[in-house]
Amino acid sequence: MKYGFAKRVKHLQSSAVRDILKVIDNGNVISFAGGLPDDDMFPVEAVQAAFDKTFQSGKKALQYGVTEGFMPLREIIVERMKTKGIQSTVDELLITTGSQQAIDLFSRVMFNPGDVVLTENPTYLAALQVFESYEVKVIPVLSDEHGMLPDDLAYKMKKYKPKCVYVVPTFANPSGKVWSLERRHYLLELAKRKKVLIFEDDPYGRIQFNDEEIYTPIAALDDGTHVLYTSTFSKTVVPALRTGWIKGPFQIIRMMAQAQQAAVLHSNSLAQHALYHLCCDFDLDGHIQLLRKTYFNRMKIMHELLQSANIPLSYVVPKGGMFFWIKLPEEINAADLLGHAVMRGVAYVPGAPFYVSDPEQNTIRLNYTHSTPDKLKEGMRVLVEVFSETNSTVHS
Ligand SMILES: Cc1ncc(COP(=O)(O)O)c(C=O)c1O
Repeated sequence: MKYGFAKRVKHLQSSAVRDILKVIDNGNVISFAGGLPDDDMFPVEAVQAAFDKTFQSGKKALQYGVTEGFMPLREIIVERMKTKGIQSTVDELLITTGSQQAIDLFSRVMFNPGDVVLTENPTYLAALQVFESYEVKVIPVLSDEHGMLPDDLAYKMKKYKPKCVYVVPTFANPSGKVWSLERRHYLLELAKRKKVLIFEDDPYGRIQFNDEEIYTPIAALDDGTHVLYTSTFSKTVVPALRTGWIKGPFQIIRMMAQAQQAAVLHSNSLAQHALYHLCCDFDLDGHIQLLRKTYFNRMKIMHELLQSANIPLSYVVPKGGMFFWIKLPEEINAADLLGHAVMRGVAYVPGAPFYVSDPEQNTIRLNYTHSTPDKLKEGMRVLVEVFSETNSTVHS
C-alpha cells in the first residue's frame, strides 16, 4: 500500500551519521563517525547511586510529573548556568528530552512553513532535519573560523528577514570551531536591532581544553529577550538519560511547555530525579575536569597522526568539544573514500550532509572522544594511509 505521508516529511531522511553507525555497529570497525562520548568515561557508579537514592526517596519519582520539569533540578540548572554568566529564573527554563527536543519544540511553536532560519554552513545535521520537518527555509551564512561573517550576516538579515538565527558558537558540531567574542556581540546587536531571535545550541561548552579561556555564551550577553539557550547532560553525564534544557523568554518557554505537554506530557521524571541527586551528591565539575583532560589527550593523539599524513589537510585544532573538521585535497570525494576506509576497518562521517547547500565533498568529521587512545592510534594510522594512497591515486 502507498502511504500518504504529510508534505512536511517528504524530504525527511534518516541522518547519514545514523545510517553509518548502524552499518558499523558490529564492533570490528574503529569508528570516528558518531558524536559519542567514551562509554568508559561514564560516571556509572554515580548514576547508579543517584537512581538508588531516587528509589529510596519514595514513589514520587515514578508518578507523572510537572511539564516544565522537576523543580529541584531546574533550580540546580539555574545555578549552574550562572557559572557561565547566564542569568535565569526557573520560569524561564524548560526541561526537555535532550537538546534535540528543545530544537524541535522551539521550531514547533515558532515556525510557519516558509519562515526563514539563518545558520552556518555546515551546521548540526539534526537541527537541519528538524527545520526541514517544519518546512522552514534555511539560508546559510558565510563564515570563517571566528563565526559568521558580519557583512554576509547583515546582508542576509536584511534580504531574508529571518525569524531566527541558529548557532552552535562554542566547539561547533561539525566544525569544532569557537566564535570570537566580537562575532557573538555582533550577532546579538544585529538580532536585537532587527528583532530576530537567536537559538544558541551549546552541548559542548563545558568540554573546553584550556581552563583559562572564557567562551561567553551569547545568552550571557543578552538581557533575556532575544536568546534561546539549550544545553544538555548528554556530554557531561550520560546521553541515555535524555535530559537537556532550554532557557529563554518566559512567553516562549511557556508556549514550548504547552507543546511539550501535547507531545509527551513531560520528559522522563525518573531521569530528572536521578540527575538532581547526582548533581547534589557527585562532584560533577570534578568529573568534567577529568573529561576535559582525557578528551584533550585524545585530541592531541589524533592531531599528531593527522600531522604525520603526507597529504595537505586543512583543519583548525579544536579548543574543546569532540570533533576535528578536515578538508582533504579538492580532488578527493570523502563519501567515495568512506567505503574504502570501512573495508580497512575505520569509519568517519563525510562532511557533505552537514551543509545546507553547496556541500564541499572533500570534507570529513572525525570524532576523537569515543575511541580509546590505542584504538585512536590504530584507526588514525590506517586512515592516514587511506588518505595518502587515495591522494597518490588521484594524482597519478
Ligand atoms: C549541536 C548539537 N545539538 C544538540 C545535540 C543533541 O543533544 P542531546 O543528546 O542533548 O539531545 C547534539 C548531539 O550530538 C549536538 O551535537
